[in-house]
Amino acid sequence: MTTALEINDIHKAFGRHKVLDGFSLRLERGEILGLLGPNGCGKSTVLNIICRLLWPDVGQISLMGQPLNRMNNKDHSLVGFCTQRCALYPDLFPAENLHFFGRIHGLSAQECQQRVAELMRTFSLNTFAETRVGQLSGGWQQRLHLAAALIHQPALLVLDEPTAAVDVEARSGLWRLIEDLRDRGVTILLTSHHLAEAERLCNKVALMRNGKVVVSGSVADLLVRMPGQAVAKVQSEDPETISQRAMLRGWTVRQQAGHIKLFLPQNLDLRDIMEALAGAKLTSLSVQPVSLDDAYLEFIGEDSLIQI
Ligand SMILES: Nc1ncnc2c1ncn2[C@@H]1O[C@H](COP(=O)(O)OP(=O)(O)O)[C@@H](O)[C@H]1O
Ligand SMILES: [Mg+2]
Repeated sequence: MTTALEINDIHKAFGRHKVLDGFSLRLERGEILGLLGPNGCGKSTVLNIICRLLWPDVGQISLMGQPLNRMNNKDHSLVGFCTQRCALYPDLFPAENLHFFGRIHGLSAQECQQRVAELMRTFSLNTFAETRVGQLSGGWQQRLHLAAALIHQPALLVLDEPTAAVDVEARSGLWRLIEDLRDRGVTILLTSHHLAEAERLCNKVALMRNGKVVVSGSVADLLVRMPGQAVAKVQSEDPETISQRAMLRGWTVRQQAGHIKLFLPQNLDLRDIMEALAGAKLTSLSVQPVSLDDAYLEFIGEDSLIQI
């Protein structure tokens, strides 16, 4: 597998506000990687740098084996960028928007015509051929936005929160389109707030905190690094006793937003857990395999976690 994108130790500050602080990431061709992290942690800044809308203060980036260069316009055509805010022209029709993006990416009039027809068909946009983009629903605008990012068949597709502003039904349509691109081997880097979205679409995720990636790999890789393979969520008026009992068993304990999480070495049944906690009053108890949500909180949600 060859490397599509390699980011090495980049730093970026806006004035005195340090946003990226030693950020590194690697993406192989054909992979789809989800960059996850809290609001304001610098995800869009990373994407803007990859797409050369911003420049890092320090650090190197290479795209398809070539270092990014301020002067080289070819770098632009390697990437298709679906920005967080919709970049379409509301007064134009869908095909006119696609045509515009095709031309700024250097496609000839004839190539443009062919690509626009293809994308209108594959993205089921023909139904809205006569509707001005400003009149389309958010979900259809986002479909068109995605099509526009693909007009020049970029080697890397960059999607900044592609489904953040759309309803549930439109989201599942966009997921199917992205899955289809993934299955056709398009290399994709996306950011998301939806852990379920990352879990469904991505073969790798990178969790970001304090300006850098704190952990990356497949979801399975991340879960193996958790303090347990199953998690019991307990509500109780007596958290002290619960913690003591759990720790006697060697279980890792976390307290979080009104409940206690016990990381178990394997998926125990409720009766075994209740036996281990005997003597403590429980209000509720559930157990499930560890998930990406647990990993997210464990690796980057430290502020909401109090280690006991
Ligand atoms: N052009 C800019 N000038 C000044 N501050 C910026 C600029 N772009 C982003 N920031 C700040 O950098 C931080 C990271 O922003 P951003 O990359 O948009 O985060 P995310 O996409 O993870 O929500 C935020 O605090 C934001 O206010
Ligand atoms: Mg953002």
